[in-house]
Amino acid sequence: MAQELRFERSTADFGLRLREDQFDLWSDAPSNGRRFCGLWQALSGQKLEGLTPGVLQYGRMRTVKTIGILTSGGDAPGMNAAVRAATMVALSTGIRVLGIRRGYRGLLEEQFVELTSRNVHTIFRDGGTMLHSTRCLEFHQVAVRDKARDILVKHGIDGLIVIGGNGSLAGALALSDPEEGGDLAPAVIGLPASIDNDIGLTGMSIGVDTAVNTIVEACDKIGDTASAHDRTFIVEVMGRDCGYLAMTAGIASGADLVLFPEAGRPPAEIVESAVKTVLGKRDSLGHVGSTLIIKAEGVEIPTEELKARLDERLSEELGAEGNSIETRVTVLGHVVRGGRPSAFDRLLGARLANVAVRAMLAGSTRKMAAWMPPVELPEEVAERSDFDPYCWLVDLPATLVETENLLRGDSPLARWRASALDNLEDVFAI
Ligand code: F6P
Repeated sequence: MAQELRFERSTADFGLRLREDQFDLWSDAPSNGRRFCGLWQALSGQKLEGLTPGVLQYGRMRTVKTIGILTSGGDAPGMNAAVRAATMVALSTGIRVLGIRRGYRGLLEEQFVELTSRNVHTIFRDGGTMLHSTRCLEFHQVAVRDKARDILVKHGIDGLIVIGGNGSLAGALALSDPEEGGDLAPAVIGLPASIDNDIGLTGMSIGVDTAVNTIVEACDKIGDTASAHDRTFIVEVMGRDCGYLAMTAGIASGADLVLFPEAGRPPAEIVESAVKTVLGKRDSLGHVGSTLIIKAEGVEIPTEELKARLDERLSEELGAEGNSIETRVTVLGHVVRGGRPSAFDRLLGARLANVAVRAMLAGSTRKMAAWMPPVELPEEVAERSDFDPYCWLVDLPATLVETENLLRGDSPLARWRASALDNLEDVFAI
């Protein structure tokens, strides 16, 4: 039989209804589940023992019995480790888990697969994502999200773990919007996954470490042949709006020059810095040696054009000797996104997923599980996880704002990355 308790205070009016193994909490004040539970316990002196913790939505707390997991946007090594850990943690607490194939598109097409310890057991070793991924532009439309919410309700999914990048997290936030979805809006917790490390408020995203290792391995190999032939190599790596991969791989592979979009340099200046690097190397070695230039794909000048203009300028500078300097281009492209996840990416995926599922069961929603945010954050925006001191739960809206700033090169972190690399340009050139 339902039991109802009601509390009134000057600033909030809230109550609790107990029904068998479930409780509903309601309030006229926005609050998160954990705070609400704490307040209720403080006022009533009663513990919520024996009850399954739930998720507060629109002033209503309800139990999570089934979670959905999807991967969306560009895949990233370590996504599978996150899917596996989220599944295992949820199953261990008695929660049913449905995998949603092909991201938000698969959700709209009701492509569900029951996840069990059996079918996720060994996936942590694999790159890509066992759930597959898509970019679903229709999800920008309210009517499409309404349909998605109906489908989630139809399949009994109360909470959604979304593993992906900027667009995927924005989709999760819109889907869980209480004003848009009312009672049907699911709880969502996001996990940052993007090889570009372009998501705000997390120190690392899933997939970055493997991608950097892949680039470094490729550059080591290129370095062997470059040195054998005294050639200049321009290696293009992924990173449409964010040069993090080029920057970190540049340091780790001893590049002579790193080009990244955040520097905002015009093409002519980029060409001249490449010329200066090749000539500087020749002067310091006393002969034309090998030069490694790592360039992010998002840099304004196309890589083939950079090569052509570099060759032209070298012959202007050195005449016949300049003509003999050979430049080669290697575009690593999607090679950087594939491959077996590194141990770090497996751990990162697993640890963030553990924190995400436990936070959802404790009543959190509209958050992202983050790895050691690189900036100080007020407690309304971020709280350290009780389950892992390296992980935080950060507000999704604040995360998306910071991500936009990062992508525009207009945040303290983006500026620091760019200036750190600028300061290193002379060091690299020695
Ligand atoms: O995952 C991010 C990213 O790797 C960008 O660096 C790159 O520009 C883009 O994905 C490529 O996406 P797609 O595989 O859809 O061409």
